Parts: sequence; C-alpha cells; structure tokens
Amino acid sequence: MKNREDLMRVSRGFWPSRAILTATELDVFRAIGRGRRPAAAVAAKVGADPRATGLLLSALAGIGVLAKEKDRYYLPEPMRPLLTDGPAGALGMLAHHARLWESWNGLTRAVRTGRPAPRRGGPRRGPEAARAFTLAMRDGARLIAPEVAAEIDLADRRLLLDLGGGPGVYAAAFARRFPDLRVVVVDMPDVVSVAKELLRSEKDVRDRVGFHGADLNTGSLPDGADAAFLSHVIHSEPEKNLPRLFGRIRGALSADGLLVVRDFFLDEDRVSPPSASLFALNMLVNTDGGRTYTAKEVREWLLGAGFRTARFRRSKAVPDTGYVLARA
Ligand SMILES: C[S@@+](CC[C@H](N)C(=O)[O-])C[C@H]1O[C@@H](n2cnc3c(N)ncnc32)[C@H](O)[C@@H]1O
Repeated sequence: MKNREDLMRVSRGFWPSRAILTATELDVFRAIGRGRRPAAAVAAKVGADPRATGLLLSALAGIGVLAKEKDRYYLPEPMRPLLTDGPAGALGMLAHHARLWESWNGLTRAVRTGRPAPRRGGPRRGPEAARAFTLAMRDGARLIAPEVAAEIDLADRRLLLDLGGGPGVYAAAFARRFPDLRVVVVDMPDVVSVAKELLRSEKDVRDRVGFHGADLNTGSLPDGADAAFLSHVIHSEPEKNLPRLFGRIRGALSADGLLVVRDFFLDEDRVSPPSASLFALNMLVNTDGGRTYTAKEVREWLLGAGFRTARFRRSKAVPDTGYVLARA
C-alpha cells in the first residue's frame, strides 16, 4: 500500500464484492441468463424492488460484471461461465463467498475473543451445508485440477487416498492422468454422498474412483494405499491436531508410501504471500483453531510423525500454493 488513496480503495473494497454477492443471493445472474433484459424485468423475475434493482445492475455494469446496451443488461462473454455447470462454473463459489461474508462480519469479535463467529447464515454442518460447500469446492478446483495432477508424479503408484477430497475433482484428475491408478475419496459421510453423485458424470474415470466416509481425525482410514493427497485440509485444523493426523496417515500408508500435503503456505515471516495471511483470518472466523502454516512447521510435524523425508515445493500452476511431499 503506497499511499492514502490505496488505503481508501482497499477499505471500501467491499462495495463491488457486496454488489456481486447480493446479485448472487437474489439469483440475478440466472435471471438475466443469456438474454438482454431491462432492470424492471430482472426485478420482476427475482422479486425485488425495480428502482433498487436498477441501481444494482448499473453498479454491476460499472465494474464489468454486466454490460448494458440501450437500457438492457446482459452478461458479457467473460462472465458467461457464471451460468454454466461446466468446469468454469462459478455460481457455487459465489454462493460460498456470500456465506463467508457472514462469518467475516464477525472478524472483530473473533479477534477479541479468539473464537470463530457464530454464523447467522445457517449451520456449518449437516447435509445442506455439506452440499453447498462441496459444490463451491468443485468450482474452485475444476479448472486447476489437471495442472495440479501434472505437478505430482504418481506414475509408479497404485492406490491413492484423496483425504478430505471433497467433490472428488482431484481424485478424477489423478485417475485421468495416471491410467493404472485407483483413487479413494475419503471425507465426511455427508460430503461423500455429494461426491458420489458428482463423480457419476466423470464416465471415463468413475470405475477407478471409490469412496470412504470417515472423519480423518477419528475414523478408520482405508489401508494398503501407497499414496495420499491431503489438499486444503490442514488449514482448517488447529496445529495441535496435525502431528497426530500425520501419524494416522503414515500408519495407513504402505512402506515407502508418499503423502502430498497441498495448501497455501506462509513464508517464514508469516506475512507473505498476503493471500495466505488473509486466509488465516478466513480460518479464524470459520473454524475452531485453523490457520495457514509455514512449510517448515509442516515438515517438522511430518518428520516427527515418522515420515522419513519431507520436502517443500511451490506450485508453478497455482500461485501461492505448494506441496510438502513426505515419504513413509
Ligand atoms: C477446503 S475442502 C478441500 C477439498 C479438496 N481437497 C480441495 O483441495 O479442493 C476441505 C475438505 O476436507 C474435508 N475435511 C476437513 N476436515 C475433515 C475431517 N476431519 N475428516 C474428513 N474430512 C474432512 C471437508 O469436508 C472438505 O471436503
């Protein structure tokens, strides 16, 4: 931040964000669809005030989420993915961001108390929450999963556990890249039901992807695997849980098994990259004791849990993320 204007710009940075989230909550994007519509028609479709809807649509056009021609609003080409259910689809993630707004609103209280904010926007757990969260994770992963799978060599591996695998997008990407690999998605039972449904459409790999509903901290893990992928899971765990979790995973892996821990890793200063230090706040308001970690911390816990080696590599494909690769 170089000057006062930068500070002001970031401080009011929630204005465009809130406009997008409100449009998402009102289902404005699907109401516009592939058409060109006047504000009054959109307002009627979403059941909102016509004048206020006009102001919202104008602001969205102002920031380029919509375009406007002769009083009609439409989604410009780069925003069309908002509407699709294809890999570039974004509605699930936008809905997730709208829920995060609620928890981030409790940041001041969370910093004061050290406790996550009570959520006004519905429960954190249960089938409905699991479904919404899993669809958001799917939106977050589908475009990048093939590139992530290309960064990890599993050519000589036979059975991969995708631990906390959520929608199974990485499981499918690994199965696609490595034709001899079988993958088991391990996640909470509510999430696994959604993943099973989503994987049905992955016709080319679904025969090699299985499912196991369990809590990683307390449940049974499938044995006999020679690889495990733990992606974006450790940041929601308090650090006291991690040595034990790594020990459990090591116990489930065969001799010379490979564990890949993927996450946003903080530099040693615990400041950079800012996406990782900000993500720690996201965990402060949403979890009981989660945060982002440095690669050094993770390596030490892995070695303490009995892994023979643990080395860190930054991802080239996905900025600010990286992998700690550990050998059992
Ligand atoms: C942020 S999502 C990441 C999904 C996917 N691995 C990815 O990288 O996109 C975290 C996933 O881990 C699962 N998870 C977190 N803690 C877990 C636990 N203790 N037992 C089982 N699953 C867990 C969540 O249900 C969720 O599906």
